Amino acid sequence: MERLRVGLIGWGTVGSALGELIRTGPLPLALACVAVRDRERPGLPKGVEIGSAEAALEADIVVELAGGVEGPLTWARQALDRGKPYVTANKALLATHGGELARLAERRVAALLGSASVGGGTPMIETVIHLAATGAIERLRGIVNATTTYILSAMGEGRSYDEALREAQEQGFAEADPSFDVEGRDAAQKLAILASVAWGRWRPETDVDTTGIVGLPVAAGDTVRLVAEATKEALSVKPMPIEPADPLARAAGIENVLEISVTDAGVFRVSGPGAGGRVTAGAVYADLARLVAGERPILFAVP
Ligand code: HSE
Repeated sequence: MERLRVGLIGWGTVGSALGELIRTGPLPLALACVAVRDRERPGLPKGVEIGSAEAALEADIVVELAGGVEGPLTWARQALDRGKPYVTANKALLATHGGELARLAERRVAALLGSASVGGGTPMIETVIHLAATGAIERLRGIVNATTTYILSAMGEGRSYDEALREAQEQGFAEADPSFDVEGRDAAQKLAILASVAWGRWRPETDVDTTGIVGLPVAAGDTVRLVAEATKEALSVKPMPIEPADPLARAAGIENVLEISVTDAGVFRVSGPGAGGRVTAGAVYADLARLVAGERPILFAVP
C-alpha cells in the first residue's frame, strides 16, 4: 500500500511525538515535511524536508500542531480549499472558526478532524459523536483542563496558587500562555467543540459563560474543580465545590473526565490523560487512521 505523505506544521511536544508515531506505528504513513519557524533549531527529524508551512501544504494530509489562530486559519483555508484533509489539535482555531472551516471542507469534499483538540488522548469527541447519533444527548458535564485541576488539587492540599501554577508549567501541560488555562478559556474552547458535536451545530467559544480560577480562595481540605457544563441551550465553565463521591472529584493531575447524559439511556463517562505529548499525538494518529481507511469526516455539522 502506498504511504500517505503527511505535512506537519509544528514540532513541539505533540509534533515530535507524532513524528515518532508516524515513523514507528502501524499505519502506511510517511512524514514528508515538517514546517517550523526556526529551521536550524536542534531536535528536528533527520531525512525529512524541513520547510515552510507552504511546503507542508503540498503533502497528501496536512497536520497542524503549531498553535495560535491566525497562521493556522490561513493554512486550514488553503489546505481545505485544495481538497486536502486538515487534522489539528488546535482548539482555539476550531472554537473560533470551526463553522467556516467545516463549510469549506464540505464544499471541497475535504476532511476536517480535531480529535486531539479536546481531552488530549482521551476519546471524548469520538464518544460524543457516537452518543449523538440518536439525537438524544441532554447534558455534558466534565473536567477538561488539566492545569486548573492540578492547581485546585494542590491548593486543596494546602499549597499556594503560584507554586502550583509553576509546577503545572514545569510539567509541560499548561498552555504557552497559561492565562488561557486559569481564565477558563482553554476549557471553554473545548466545551464549545464538544457541544458543537453533541447538538449538530457549530458553537463558538463566545457562547460559553466562562469564569476562571484566578484569585479563587481554596482552603486546605476543599475539593474544587473547574467544571464545564452544557445543555443545548446553555454552556458554562465555572469553578465549583465537588462532593468527594462525585466522579468528577476523581479527576486529579492530568486526568480529564466527561459525563454525557442521554435521554432514556443514562449517564456515560469517559476519562483519561487530558494532556501530554504522546497521548495527544495518539489522538492525532487515530484521526490519520480514519483518513488511511478512506473516510472523509468533517468534525462539525455544517451550520
Ligand atoms: N493546557 C491544557 C490543559 C493542555 O491544561 O488541559 C491540554 O489541552
